Amino acid sequence: MTDVVVAIDQGTTNTKAVAVDPTGAVLARASAPVGVRHGDHGHVEQDPAQIWRTVQQVVVDCLAGTPDLHPVGVALSTQRESVVAWDRRDGRPLGPVLSWQDVRTADDCRRLLDDPRAALVPARTGLPLDPMFSAPKLHRLLADAAEAGSDVTHAAVGTIDSWLLWNLTGGAEHVVEAGNASRTLLLDLDLGRSASPSPSSDRLGWDAELADLFAVPQAALPRIAASTGPFGTVAGDGPLRGLPVLAVLADSHAALLGHGATGPGTVKATYGTGSSVMRPWATPDAVRTGVSTTLAWLTDRPTYALEGNIRYSGAALDWAASLLGLTGGAALGELAATVPDAGGVTLVPAFGGLGAPHWDADAVGLLTGLTGGTTPAHVARAAFEAVAWQVADVVAAMSPDGAPSPDLLVADGGASASALLMQLQADALGCEVVTSRHPELSALGVAGLAGQALGWDPALRADPHAGGTRYAPSIGSDERAARRARWDAALHRSRGPQA
Ligand code: G3P
Repeated sequence: MTDVVVAIDQGTTNTKAVAVDPTGAVLARASAPVGVRHGDHGHVEQDPAQIWRTVQQVVVDCLAGTPDLHPVGVALSTQRESVVAWDRRDGRPLGPVLSWQDVRTADDCRRLLDDPRAALVPARTGLPLDPMFSAPKLHRLLADAAEAGSDVTHAAVGTIDSWLLWNLTGGAEHVVEAGNASRTLLLDLDLGRSASPSPSSDRLGWDAELADLFAVPQAALPRIAASTGPFGTVAGDGPLRGLPVLAVLADSHAALLGHGATGPGTVKATYGTGSSVMRPWATPDAVRTGVSTTLAWLTDRPTYALEGNIRYSGAALDWAASLLGLTGGAALGELAATVPDAGGVTLVPAFGGLGAPHWDADAVGLLTGLTGGTTPAHVARAAFEAVAWQVADVVAAMSPDGAPSPDLLVADGGASASALLMQLQADALGCEVVTSRHPELSALGVAGLAGQALGWDPALRADPHAGGTRYAPSIGSDERAARRARWDAALHRSRGPQA
């Protein structure tokens, strides 16, 4: 029998479970899709009961057929910011999951910005007052439940990890992991106000003023725990019955750990529809302009991270492919590779404004530098360059000491398979880029933390970048500066005279 940690990764569109041995090898896996309902007025909802059912199902499927596995503990990584409310007397959901993508509280947030206390939000939480985060959704969820006639006096609320921990433990634990809690707008990170920033595991609490600002009743909120718990043990009659939940992380934070990106010299970029760029930061001293500060994980001490979210990266490639009559990013890459450069063309994919680090809702999309000699290949190449420069802009905004580049960028997500994009990324940053082909980085990251708790030493040695590719910068600093100047000029025009 082989000891394994069963790591569950509950994401927006699917739930996965993997059985991981002490070397980091994935010995079994299963996954199940999860439904997402997109409604009018920015509504994006999920079914809390279905999410819980998929967790139960993937655990059974993962362990079925491999009787030589001996589960010794559970690890959990979850989508962030999405919220659930349920009745603590019977565990019945009091409404749908309001997804992190749901922007029904945009007007609530705009109104709150007029409150003088709104300045507390970025100063204390490291996050912008934005409808993506949990607190405005928590208020709305409870208000909607009350309006629909539910008795909310016994309501419990939480993020997806809270909901799953409640169910895994048979209602014994109402708890949220600290990194997930840091995405709610209700946790004070104590940035820049003390020599050793909170939270520490013996000093975790909700910020009363912020709870008041967002009108979230503190009695409904979960206990906050360090990333290694305690989270209780699994109840019920499933295959994990009686096992301890050893580690819980937010999914992007778990991917950072899965990459082995624990030091400030490494930046992680996930290339999906948009891009999430994260950099660990040991000692945050203040809020950075344009990027958010997050508690990545909390063990014996906190590890923070800076994060910037770019709205259009893979989606910008899709847009360019469709504009040029191509099907998919691979065809776009083949076309872009037929020219040595973009021929002076620059694309700024500010479709619906710009996200991090510019946060300019009025910026407009722009294709500039066109001449009579411009070909579709130049436009294709400009699309890849735009993705790379947007990531480089976030990385530049993150450099706490003004350092121009990190030592290494670790990359995952669909578009990281493009050799052209990864080379352009290394060139824009002036540092090495290494890709990971591991499909379960978040599960691997949280399993590693659980392995440490079990005393597996060193836990999970397997290289997350095995099978990936390394890209070294192929241009010098003069060429990089010239390319950056072209990008900056186009960005300036996209943002108009006010920028
Ligand atoms: O912030 C939202 C993020 O955690 C969602 O991740 O992997 O479910 O798209 P994912």
